Amino acid sequence: MNDSHTWRKGEELSLEVTDLNAEGEGIARVGDREVELPLTIPGDRVRARLLKPGRQPARAAVLEREAPSPARLPALCPHYELCGGCAWQDVDYPAQLQLKERIVRANLTEVPAERFRPILGMETPWFYRNKMEYTFGPDLTLGLHRRGRYWDLVDILDCRLQSPLANEIRNAVRDYGRARAWEPYLKRTHLGEARNLVIREGKRTGEVLLNLVSRSDALPGVPELAQEIRARYPAVASFYWTISPEKGDAIKAHRETLLAGKPQIREILDGIEFLIGTKTFFQTNTIQAERLCEVVAGLREEAGHGPRPVVLDLYCGVGTFALSTARRCPGARIFGVELVEESVAAAQENARRNAIEGVEFLAGDVGKRLPEAIRAVGQPDVVIVDPPRAGLSPDVSRDLAALAPAQILYISCNPVALARDLAVLTSVGYEVVAVQPVDMFPHTRHVETVVSLSRRRE
Ligand SMILES: C[S@@+](CC[C@H](N)C(=O)[O-])C[C@H]1O[C@@H](n2cnc3c(N)ncnc32)[C@H](O)[C@@H]1O
Repeated sequence: MNDSHTWRKGEELSLEVTDLNAEGEGIARVGDREVELPLTIPGDRVRARLLKPGRQPARAAVLEREAPSPARLPALCPHYELCGGCAWQDVDYPAQLQLKERIVRANLTEVPAERFRPILGMETPWFYRNKMEYTFGPDLTLGLHRRGRYWDLVDILDCRLQSPLANEIRNAVRDYGRARAWEPYLKRTHLGEARNLVIREGKRTGEVLLNLVSRSDALPGVPELAQEIRARYPAVASFYWTISPEKGDAIKAHRETLLAGKPQIREILDGIEFLIGTKTFFQTNTIQAERLCEVVAGLREEAGHGPRPVVLDLYCGVGTFALSTARRCPGARIFGVELVEESVAAAQENARRNAIEGVEFLAGDVGKRLPEAIRAVGQPDVVIVDPPRAGLSPDVSRDLAALAPAQILYISCNPVALARDLAVLTSVGYEVVAVQPVDMFPHTRHVETVVSLSRRRE
């Protein structure tokens, strides 16, 4: 094809994917023009239809993979082609890890190459999720959203990201619902009853929590199901029934009833026992969350703060890093700040149950409560930040820099926001010392990154 050729919407092209964009989608180059190709990787040759030719990069839909990258292999999951859960299950795992390293490097362009450490992948990158949320659909299917058609569902019989036991339990609940002629809730009409099944599983304890969600209490046979499931699967330690009558996809509990078992299940992460209820935020991949704790501890020790460091854990959730730091460094004084009150209560309870001392938690917005945290704990040596996908607000980045801790440990699930925030922090006196990617979500394009920053000596 001629480089000066003007592209038209709907035109079909044969393209060689050579790169990845910041989000991990494939990029093909034609002369000095770029085309984004979702669900492709470098090495793929595809036939694609141009959707947005005027944009730079242009955007196209893949019609056919003419020649796959050598990294492609058959996906294990029978639902892979349709399901929106995984994007890279048909890519060899070592190649997935290389692609994730590439995404991180492509975003953090200002960081010298020698500061990047090799990504930490999983030994067994299957069955890793400790939480799955399924949705009921027409004909009482029970599954996940369809790739590219999020209003549609794929009936899931065998998901390779959660345990075989969890697969069996989900299928048993669907069979029971069909036998009882349950009507699925349909968003379009706001009629029907059965909405969701949430399965949470302690990977280290084997305990399972089920939360069945319906529009009202008119769903028949739920208390009997709780007994039946518990008798058949003794690992089910908690069975909840949640009534969520509102429109929309999110589960908004108007009433939550524990039908059988105990209120929370237990999970062990980094040697600490955590309690998990229906609303508890918890890292979804227990095994790799332990890698994250090890990385945070290793980078903190490399910075050499001495035996009694003052540590702030901002956006601390249920206290994963605060508690792990306290256990690994008994002399530390640690203060966690988190917006969601239930998570703070869980963090406090987790500290108490594990007899961990020297840790306090505060409920509130990091943007507003930082001065209070500092009054309580003193000048920090280390600040750990693990913000949501959007990253830090400019105010928080500035407050952090003004606080001038010797080390900032930034844990990020979004390399684009991370790059933006590192640009602010490096412009106000910090230097990136190490970048450690961790694969928390095998078979997806997501990558977690831990960055250690230290104050530049003037
Ligand atoms: C990526 S999670 C971090 C979880 C935590 N490190 C853990 O492992 O449990 C981000 C956390 O930030 C909290 N959050 C969001 N906005 C916040 C804010 N403005 N102030 C404090 N916490 C916030 C969320 O509730 C969530 O728990």
